[in-house]
Amino acid sequence: MALRKINFEYTNDVTVINQEQFEVHMRLYEGYIRKINEVDGLLENDSGLEDANATYSKYRGIKRGETYALDGVILHEYYFENIGSTNNIPDNEVAECLAQDFGSFEQWADHFVATAKASRGWAVLCYDIRSKKLRNISLDAHDVGNLAICIPLLVLDVYEHAYFLQYADKKDEYINNFMKNIDWNIVRRRIGLSD
Ligand SMILES: [Fe+2]
Repeated sequence: MALRKINFEYTNDVTVINQEQFEVHMRLYEGYIRKINEVDGLLENDSGLEDANATYSKYRGIKRGETYALDGVILHEYYFENIGSTNNIPDNEVAECLAQDFGSFEQWADHFVATAKASRGWAVLCYDIRSKKLRNISLDAHDVGNLAICIPLLVLDVYEHAYFLQYADKKDEYINNFMKNIDWNIVRRRIGLSD
């Protein structure tokens, strides 16, 4: 069955980006939905699997596109879902989770901001199931830098397309404004502390 886009609405609570930046970004997200559906269609009907080859082949191109497009869909959905709250600090339970692995909420935040500045694609706070700890991971593209098994808890898009229309080259300002607009209730739910 084809994937369908989630309809994210721009509201006054979204302060990290303006409506124009939001809508441009939403079109990009919709493009990834179209591409993963196209990839799934090719895998069913026209994949060229007999000629699969690691140097160049149609099948290789489809496989590269499969994870790139689907990670693009997933990460954008997590990002748009976790922005839009002006209550910019987590509750005690969430803060305690962060403190367990990072020392304090503030130290986690310093590392998350640094991860975002150091990344070309995404900064993701995730639960690393293998080590049973929280990590801030750095992705240079949708499919470059992800852990094989982890649960994303907070996702920040730092591709230039995410902020350049509004912020131009002021990436730090965009990141700082993101930190003030995180919906911590969503993070809380992803951690499993609420439904
Ligand atoms: Fe994006």
